[in-house]
Amino acid sequence: MYFTASSANLLNIRADSLIVATGSQLQNSAKDLDASLDGAITSLIKAGDFKGKAGETLIIHIPVGTGKRIILVGTEGATTAQQQIKVTHAGATALLKTPSIKAVWVGEGLADDTEWQAGIVARCMQSVSYRYNSGKKIPAQKLKTLTYWVAAKASVSAANKGLNYGAAVGKGMNAARQLGNMPANLCTPTYLAEHAKALTKGQAKFTTSVLNEAQMAKLKMGSLLSVSAGSDEPGKLIVIKYQGAKATAKPVVLVGKAVTFDSGGISLKPGGGMDEMKYDMCGGASVMGVMHALIETQLPINVVAIIPAVENMPNGNATKPGDVVTSMSGQTIEVLNTDAEGRLILCDALTYADRFKPDTVIDIATLTGAVIGALGKETAGLLSNNDELATDLLSSGIRSGDRAWRLPLYEEYDQLLKSNFADIANIGGPQAGTITAACFLGRFTKKYKWAHLDVAGTAWLSGAQKGSTGRPVPILMDYLRSKAK
Ligand code: BES
Ligand code: MN
Ligand code: ZN
Repeated sequence: MYFTASSANLLNIRADSLIVATGSQLQNSAKDLDASLDGAITSLIKAGDFKGKAGETLIIHIPVGTGKRIILVGTEGATTAQQQIKVTHAGATALLKTPSIKAVWVGEGLADDTEWQAGIVARCMQSVSYRYNSGKKIPAQKLKTLTYWVAAKASVSAANKGLNYGAAVGKGMNAARQLGNMPANLCTPTYLAEHAKALTKGQAKFTTSVLNEAQMAKLKMGSLLSVSAGSDEPGKLIVIKYQGAKATAKPVVLVGKAVTFDSGGISLKPGGGMDEMKYDMCGGASVMGVMHALIETQLPINVVAIIPAVENMPNGNATKPGDVVTSMSGQTIEVLNTDAEGRLILCDALTYADRFKPDTVIDIATLTGAVIGALGKETAGLLSNNDELATDLLSSGIRSGDRAWRLPLYEEYDQLLKSNFADIANIGGPQAGTITAACFLGRFTKKYKWAHLDVAGTAWLSGAQKGSTGRPVPILMDYLRSKAK
């Protein structure tokens, strides 16, 4: 899909669809359209066909001229970023259901910030057009061009900026969704490693390296390796460096949990819904999605992606409850529950992160079922050892409609991880599971500014809409973009 901005006379742009976001009171551009259609829009509003309620849509077919339809999208009451994104999403969905080839999105009636609104339009268009790629041929996308129309010529460049950024974020989300949705027999640690290499091949600012188990053993990553021990699939540590700024600028390091299947290991999970544990690599997939988006945007910032990729399985070599392993940091860990494996791979990746002299480290993980109990499927859990970083991420979440909410890391919670046989236990008991999981990680992140996003609730949907969401690519990209400015 090709995105471009224009301020040409709306009635003269050749397109088969016009998307108009409006309440029941028409704004200027909608009034002009209405006049050119002999009051068709106002008469439909009068008749009650269209009330202008947020997210409501109505398609008006036009029998004359090059245009074929106007898609009205209701905006009333949509004042927050979140609501405006939902309205935009409804418009994008309605547009993609038509056989439109060339559409114009009338950039009026929703958010006043042109760059932001154009970005959301492009992101939603990308997102709505995602289909799971099973390897079979997917029918080509009908819609080829979307022109984002703005009233003032002076706004065209802001609109184009927004379109490029939003399209990149949308593509990054779709890349993350594709990896997330792939079944675990195809999306193995080895597959993810090959994907990372293929993605960055020929990209001047990117360098990808993959550590195998022998190399990780040399680095003494005993905790990570204790998770892949029970699987026939070898674990991998994928490292992608992106240099978008001068070499001396300290990078943001993104660490993404990629358990390509989490059976629980010897602490085997119950059978119901276990297929969804193919999504336990969504943290890693989102980091890969960010790399996709950086290829597109080339943001002037340095980023290092670290993706520990393993399969958690219960074969004869598997780690057993009660086993004690030594992490790369030297701290020993009593593995009381082999299903608390995410933290075991992340802790070694977080220790490894220190060699990149990070400005900030953010880890992203489908870490705890408890975060779903606390925040449901809407909001990611955020925990951080730095208030400014937490505040920045919360604002990025609001701006991008990919929201997070902070939970505390008080030392009283950390004490729940005491072990009689090692420096730390890998579980903290039945209470505050999201916090104790983060406290565990906090033992390995003392040297730098760090935030943890628990996306176990937000990374995928269940039931009839089962599928990966592409979150938290939007919040991460917004954060990186704000740091790149
Ligand atoms: N990948 C799971 C977390 C999870 C569970 C995500 C359900 C989404 C839905 C993680 O590895 C896990 O099993 N966590 C345990 C931790 C517990 C053993 C302390 C959990 O949340 O039950
Ligand atoms: Mn688990
Ligand atoms: Zn897991």
